[in-house]
Amino acid sequence: MLSAQTLDAMIVACENAKSVLRRAAIDPSERKTLNITLSAAVAAAYLDRTPEGLAKAEARGRLPAPKVASNGRRFYTVADMIAIREALGIRPGKADDERAVVVAVQNFKGGVSKSTTAKHLADYLGLRGYRVLVVDCDPQASMSVMFDINLEELIDETHTLSNFLSPQMDDADSFAKTIRHTAWPNIDICPANLGLQDTEWELTATIEDGPSAIADAFRKLRFGLEEVRGDYDVIILDPPPAMGFLGVNTLTAADGLLIPVPARQLDYLSTIHFMQTCREALELISKFDPTIDYGFIRVVCTMFQPNRTNEAQMFQVMEKTYAGQMIKTPILLSEEIKNAGVLMSSIYEVNKPYGSHQTFTRCRDNLNTVFAEVEREICKQWPSRLAQIGTDKLTEAL
Ligand SMILES: Nc1ncnc2c1ncn2[C@@H]1O[C@H](COP(=O)(O)OP(=O)(O)OP(=O)(O)O)[C@@H](O)[C@H]1O
Ligand SMILES: [Mg+2]
Repeated sequence: MLSAQTLDAMIVACENAKSVLRRAAIDPSERKTLNITLSAAVAAAYLDRTPEGLAKAEARGRLPAPKVASNGRRFYTVADMIAIREALGIRPGKADDERAVVVAVQNFKGGVSKSTTAKHLADYLGLRGYRVLVVDCDPQASMSVMFDINLEELIDETHTLSNFLSPQMDDADSFAKTIRHTAWPNIDICPANLGLQDTEWELTATIEDGPSAIADAFRKLRFGLEEVRGDYDVIILDPPPAMGFLGVNTLTAADGLLIPVPARQLDYLSTIHFMQTCREALELISKFDPTIDYGFIRVVCTMFQPNRTNEAQMFQVMEKTYAGQMIKTPILLSEEIKNAGVLMSSIYEVNKPYGSHQTFTRCRDNLNTVFAEVEREICKQWPSRLAQIGTDKLTEAL
């Protein structure tokens, strides 16, 4: 078995290299920490306040005295911003008796920026003060790695997403036990691991057991999320690039779909196929569960290069065909995002721009504009927040 031996040797070599790569990407202390500090202007914008308003509240003692850098400038951490929201009574999100909004960032085409978009959306919402749960439904586990989950630790763990979703396990109340904290005080994750691939096969095997077993296998994640929907404002799902049983599970669990599509012909065409498959899956499942429906379906153009004529043209086609369903601003292709990805981070987590400060600010403003639109769609799902949806002024203020 020459090929088995070759593969074994390659696996060992890769395993050895993995920890070296991780050390290079993440703080030598071995655990990712959230070191970001925000200027008064940036923090105030995320808080929907002005820097002057913040300073006044601090001077009057409504807020604790801010931290001050050696250059005399005020700065804020994510934890400071959470404390400020508490003190001012401006925590955003659902009312106590409402449920978390579940957003699937989904498209079955590979490499269209699903995980990157989902990670940046999660961090943006974290900065805006929402309580976020990310569910990594992809056996590749790239989202879990970006949140610094040590996948080896999950191997002997019984409370994993793979075990929860497996039709062989009948532990109906174990979803909450799969959740772990991240370096963000207000973002938790339900991590993925390779076992999810086996679970997908087990779920697929329920085809032998008849329609009711299949319907249950399609909705396992939906049932699991019920347990925790009171504890978070937003739950973000990162599905694998395929429409197997895992993909259908994220479709049936979602309240809203965000579909990332690069402005490239092949991606555009395959998205039509994705939408048809979604339609068929929903029709099938609605026979068992008529409650599955979406509050919003939005296409977001990703990795956009406006200077490329064919992409600019393709974007116009997308705007025309998706009309009201399109997020107005495309996410630009950016070296900042690419480089943050190499460091297993989002651009919101880095303190030092990869390129110039200007390029970094352009990239962050672009993402803030896109996600402010998504935030508005999310807020519309809560009757209590319909009237006070996210501000349009965020990017201007930053
Ligand atoms: N806006 C962007 N600018 C620059 N690079 C990007 C951008 N979005 C994504 N990328 C890069 O493109 C690659 C693919 O992105 P990502 O992993 O998010 O795609 P995906 O759709 O989740 O892939 P998969 O189908 O394998 O799950 C990554 O290397 C990522 O860093
Ligand atoms: Mg992905």
